[in-house]
Amino acid sequence: MALESAPPGVDITRPSPARVYDYALGGSANYPVDRQAAEEVWRVAPETRQLARDSRGFLIRAVRFLADEAGIDQFLDIGAGLPTADNVHQVARRANPRAQVVYVDNDPTVRLHAEVLLDGDPNAVFLSGDVRRPEAIIERTRSLLDLDRPVALLLVAVLHFVAEDPRGIVDRLIAALPPGSHLVIAHTTSADMDPAFRERLARTYADAPAPLITRTPEEIEAAFRGRTPLPPGLVDVACWRTAQPRTPGPLRVLGGVARL
Ligand SMILES: C[S@@+](CC[C@H](N)C(=O)[O-])C[C@H]1O[C@@H](n2cnc3c(N)ncnc32)[C@H](O)[C@@H]1O
Repeated sequence: MALESAPPGVDITRPSPARVYDYALGGSANYPVDRQAAEEVWRVAPETRQLARDSRGFLIRAVRFLADEAGIDQFLDIGAGLPTADNVHQVARRANPRAQVVYVDNDPTVRLHAEVLLDGDPNAVFLSGDVRRPEAIIERTRSLLDLDRPVALLLVAVLHFVAEDPRGIVDRLIAALPPGSHLVIAHTTSADMDPAFRERLARTYADAPAPLITRTPEEIEAAFRGRTPLPPGLVDVACWRTAQPRTPGPLRVLGGVARL
């Protein structure tokens, strides 16, 4: 059942990206204001609902790849989102039951739900934090993950809510990670976007608390800081290491995984 009354500290007068995304994924941790915002976006861009599923599918396949094939057992997931089916610690632990995950998000709704889901799990911890303050996140992660061993840094569908240049943010995060770590990025792109569609999208998101910022494929590639994303490269999330690729619509999300 959908939520109608807010716990303390949660603003339900304005939509939150986490709860709008939750609604798009079919979750119930959202409020009328989020559902209305989602429906408005879907009227302009109906395929964004599928895009949320594609993006989540990319995250799951990337974590499976990292845990299964790259031997990663530590994950730092920033902009983690609300718990849903197949969260990072659950996917990673299918490959490695000892996998450790630090989830970070700046949305109080996410914190409340994460605390319930992760209660008592010493190896899956939630931190309230903002990706725009990378040093604070790293400082608090030091006591939770072993930063002398490889870590997968997950920045999936979060940097497009940040106006700052993602390169600086990524630089400050990866400076703390040892070689053999991996960087996962998924980000909305303006590539091949019809100008009229772009304008309608901008108007739809103009008043959102965290407007969606599309970037060019070159700008997204630059966030990998000189590392070449592993095959198949930086591609539409619905096409990344899947047997059932989907043709993208006018709004696209590019995703990739690079070794640091
Ligand atoms: C679209 S969801 C993506 C969730 C998850 N990474 C996934 O791919 O399924 C974006 C998440 O980023 C979070 N977020 C947005 N801006 C943020 C910021 N500045 N710092 C930390 N988290 C942020 C939102 O609260 C939301 O939970």
